[in-house]
Amino acid sequence: MEFNKQSGEQFVALMGQRRSHPRLEAPAPDEALMQTIFNASLRAPDHMHLRPWRFLTIAGTDRQLLGDLFAKDLQSKDPGVDATKLDSAVNKAFRAPLIVVGVASYDNNERVPKIEQAIAAAGVLHNMGMAVYASGFGSVWRTGPYASSAIVKEGLGVLKDEDIVGYLYVGTPSKGDRPLKPILAESFFSAWPGTE
Ligand SMILES: Cc1cc2nc3c(=O)[nH]c(=O)nc-3n(C[C@H](O)[C@H](O)[C@H](O)COP(=O)(O)O)c2cc1C
Repeated sequence: MEFNKQSGEQFVALMGQRRSHPRLEAPAPDEALMQTIFNASLRAPDHMHLRPWRFLTIAGTDRQLLGDLFAKDLQSKDPGVDATKLDSAVNKAFRAPLIVVGVASYDNNERVPKIEQAIAAAGVLHNMGMAVYASGFGSVWRTGPYASSAIVKEGLGVLKDEDIVGYLYVGTPSKGDRPLKPILAESFFSAWPGTE
């Protein structure tokens, strides 16, 4: 596909409006669209093309099993936890119709440290959120205690030497978008050493 200046400009403008959608409902993008999004997302920068990542998709009734793992983790940390809190942990898995679990799956490589590999995996997850947004849907990236929990990791089949870089919750935004607060490049970018 040849580069098209106009669609490039549209892409950058869209990127400048990207936002997360913490409140999501059905439907998620259909399977064909998600495959397109996954393929595009995998074009993230990746030192030595190690592909140090894998992704789990969880949808439909399978979300109950994820919710059960969240509750199991909570109970292990607080054996006296009440039923309301356990329900709330389970319900976290139902916050969106589709959840993509991003896993950094490290290659033992002398030239590419683990942190670079985790960053590459995170780049794919970020691309995914961006592509979901560009497709007219919404997503939110979450981590929290369930991303590092040994119980949740084991339940998901994530190995001890792999890391969950995030859960991308995907669906249709439940609410209209709030106006974006401006974020200015000049607050974060400066010329170095700035002699000119
Ligand atoms: C690595 C990572 C982990 C995050 N974990 C959480 C989380 O656990 N809970 C949460 O509410 N937001 C989390 N966020 C932030 C949201 O994804 C989102 O960026 C934030 O709510 C701001 O919204 P915005 O993306 O529209 O600016 C995380 C973001 C990143 C990059």
